[in-house]
Amino acid sequence: METSPEPLPHKRRQRYSGKNPRKFEEKYKEHRPESYPETFQKVLDSGKTPAGSHRPILVQEILQILRPQPGEVCVDATLGYGGHTCEILRLLRPAGRLIGLDIDPIELPRTEARLRLLGFGEEEFTAVHANYAAMNQVLNSLSLPAADLILADLGISSMQLDNPARGLSYKSEGPLDLRMNPGKGSPAWEFLANLDQEKIVEILIENADEPYARLIAPILIEDRARNGLRTTSLLAASVRRGLQSLPKQLRDQEGDAPIRRVFQAIRIAVNQEFATLEAFLRVVPQVLNPGGRVAILTFHSGEDRRVKKAFQDHARSGVYREINDPVIRASAEEVRANPRASSAKLRWAIKA
Ligand SMILES: C[S@@+](CC[C@H](N)C(=O)[O-])C[C@H]1O[C@@H](n2cnc3c(N)ncnc32)[C@H](O)[C@@H]1O
Repeated sequence: METSPEPLPHKRRQRYSGKNPRKFEEKYKEHRPESYPETFQKVLDSGKTPAGSHRPILVQEILQILRPQPGEVCVDATLGYGGHTCEILRLLRPAGRLIGLDIDPIELPRTEARLRLLGFGEEEFTAVHANYAAMNQVLNSLSLPAADLILADLGISSMQLDNPARGLSYKSEGPLDLRMNPGKGSPAWEFLANLDQEKIVEILIENADEPYARLIAPILIEDRARNGLRTTSLLAASVRRGLQSLPKQLRDQEGDAPIRRVFQAIRIAVNQEFATLEAFLRVVPQVLNPGGRVAILTFHSGEDRRVKKAFQDHARSGVYREINDPVIRASAEEVRANPRASSAKLRWAIKA
């Protein structure tokens, strides 16, 4: 059912110095694509992601794999901005249904409101604040016995990453939080407060293959005692200090890569991302109908290894009748238009 869009409440224009807004919260036109479609498109055309949005990756490839049909049931396990969901929902019409899950209580209602504005009604689209590892319970609670399609696009969205208040990026100043669900667990600075040096080394290596883990960890411990590592910039500065003993040429060559990896490693630990992914991979075959399709997009080796192994194990035991090999990557053209697609790897499986 198509619904007519409700007008959004009036918002006072953000004030900023200079000709163009620079800060995330000042880019009010990018945050409101329904009111400023030209600005939104201009940013997209320049190869950037508009503030407060997210560009879906490998969309056509995912549609070819999942082949959504009218009347089918799909679970988008990581709803995010709803980019993939939008495309899938159109193909499920008429009579299809999509359940979109996300653990982020801040972005989920925004995405739900945006999708309603686009005309997706309650009977075809349900947004649920839930962890994807609990996908089977969610389907049970909706009296849905199984799904025909499952999509998971792992990690974090651009709007989470770019919002300084979420403390997810070393590129902007914010509290060192790193949680996808700030209503649960502890922020990263508190989590770090309880770790010994060996545990920090283990997290950096296990979660991000950090080659300088043994140089960085003792400095994090020192700086933690001095300033509590309570903000993104304090953690970034501490990692830089940890690399001071490296030859300058090597430091220049590495650039910000070690900082990005340290943030990634701590984020994975704070959100227990690997344990959750493993639980999800166990649940997928229980939830899929025979002949059902699953597609999973990963963004680093720790995720891809786990997806590859689970798919191979289930293919060997006959649970999946087909899996892809080799992995699917974004085209050079897509990476040019959206550099965040460069690390994406897509795997799929079909249930026997
Ligand atoms: C890369 S984004 C998805 C983007 C989406 N495909 C789109 O096109 O807009 C990943 C999303 O997964 C969510 N997420 C991460 N871990 C999750 C989990 N365990 N359960 C549910 N959602 C999760 C994040 O909050 C984020 O919104």
